[in-house]
Amino acid sequence: MRLFTTTAGLRCYLERDCSGKDIGLVPTMGALHRGHLSLIERSRRENAITIVSIFVNPLQFGPTEDFGCYPRPLEADRQLCEQIGVDAIFAPTASDLYGNCLPTGAMSDQLTHVVPPTAMTSVLCGSSRKGHFQGVATVVTKLLNLVQPKRAYFGQKDAQQLAIVKRMVADLNMPVEIVGCPIIREESGLALSSRNQYLTPLQKDQASVLYRALQQAQKAFEAGECDCTVLIEVVKSELAAVNDIQVEYIELVHPTRLTPLEKIDDGGLLAIAARVGSTRLIDNVLLQHRKPIVAIDGPAGVGKSTVTRQVAKALGLMHLDTGAMYRAVTWQAMQTGIDLEDESAIAELVSQSQISLTTNEEGDAAPRVWVDGEDITQAIRALEVTANVSAIAAQKSVRFELVKQQQRWGSKGGIVAEGRDIGTHVFPDAELKIFLTASAQERARRRQKDLKDQNLPNVSLEQLERDIQERDRRDSTRAIAPLRKAEDAIEIITDGLSAAQVTERIINLYHQQVTAAHF
Ligand code: PAJ
Repeated sequence: MRLFTTTAGLRCYLERDCSGKDIGLVPTMGALHRGHLSLIERSRRENAITIVSIFVNPLQFGPTEDFGCYPRPLEADRQLCEQIGVDAIFAPTASDLYGNCLPTGAMSDQLTHVVPPTAMTSVLCGSSRKGHFQGVATVVTKLLNLVQPKRAYFGQKDAQQLAIVKRMVADLNMPVEIVGCPIIREESGLALSSRNQYLTPLQKDQASVLYRALQQAQKAFEAGECDCTVLIEVVKSELAAVNDIQVEYIELVHPTRLTPLEKIDDGGLLAIAARVGSTRLIDNVLLQHRKPIVAIDGPAGVGKSTVTRQVAKALGLMHLDTGAMYRAVTWQAMQTGIDLEDESAIAELVSQSQISLTTNEEGDAAPRVWVDGEDITQAIRALEVTANVSAIAAQKSVRFELVKQQQRWGSKGGIVAEGRDIGTHVFPDAELKIFLTASAQERARRRQKDLKDQNLPNVSLEQLERDIQERDRRDSTRAIAPLRKAEDAIEIITDGLSAAQVTERIINLYHQQVTAAHF
């Protein structure tokens, strides 16, 4: 692992050792704990190179805040990063990063600042921490510009920071994907934070009431309560059970726009800041009416599509037929006469087109597919579309745009989706993740039977097996959407099982894991 304390060293490393590789950046202020490590682990899974920045950013601390005594255990952080497989740490000094124009612990009139929308910075922590989010937005912009990562990782723990960074990246067209990661907690429920070090054991125990209170509100919400005042009252009354907690705010806001809500329609962010002794702590929960998502991944030729259709039908969920979406784009490109290799023209087309899927009345058939109001369910099955779809699906911009559309579909849940990276990339927070696989021999046997059933020429089992192994190798190493099993996916080896038996297993797992947890 490398450690750089200057932008010059970092620049040289990026040029010499990282060129052409996907970089994941995890910005931190150090004093690393399991919360930070979860971001690093996610970055390691998704990128060839992971860089962790450690920088206690003076620009985001107010004059009376804890900049001076913020913990800075660089050597312990270095060891943790080394153990967990970080490629490089970037730990610059303030003068290296900002030059000499920065008075410690305040905004500088000598420096260009990034100013996020006031609507997002005047609520929650922004009302008491003036200038804080300008400081965050400015340093994050500098880090993104320096490292130029493909992805950057932020915790939902700082939900306002995450929403602001996402918004800034979208508004300023910054070429990076911001990945939000779930809150990691102690057994007591207390969200991990570098500032928990300031707490005595008794205060830590008292602080766990923050999450208990949020959970009470979550329960009330799940029981049907959507009124903001009532939900906030629930939090207050739970907090009242513990002495020595000074609440700074309890607010319910829109999860991405951060505007105050009176009532939850689609979803809300319930956030709290409180002092325990002199330590300021924050926590939050997302209150969302989201139905479950089932993600089914696995290599080609394991019967994913049949099983996915059957599972969707049996559970009354929508089959998000991602393959049909790629076919729809192919069909549209062919209709408009665009050269199918002209990636920029296709990128324009896909970002303007409105693909939608509706459940088919016949139930277990694939969903109906619409483009700009026209039903193209039949048209996309034409042989010419089949012949061209893989070339279109291999284009980066097509995939990027369609994944965005799929995630928009997924935001309300209630879907089953299949692919190669649904559980790892498209819906990493799916309630149930299945990885379907089968031995190469079994898949070769199935393929041989298919060829026979379709009166196609016979191919030897040995040859089919070799082809399958080669395809698996290509699928797992390809740059776009590589095949990967999510760590929390349940593997089902389908050797000797019929599609109906696999479907039944998935439905049982759904009832055990999802129905039980949800209702
Ligand atoms: P810091 O507080 O060190 O946090 C670094 C990242 O770790 C943030 O994205 C934060 O949300 C995440 N994180 C902290 N505790 C977490 C937990 N319990 N579970 C999950 N993620 C957690 O946030 C900052 O630093 C700074 O503002 C920074 C973005 C580095 C800019 O200076």
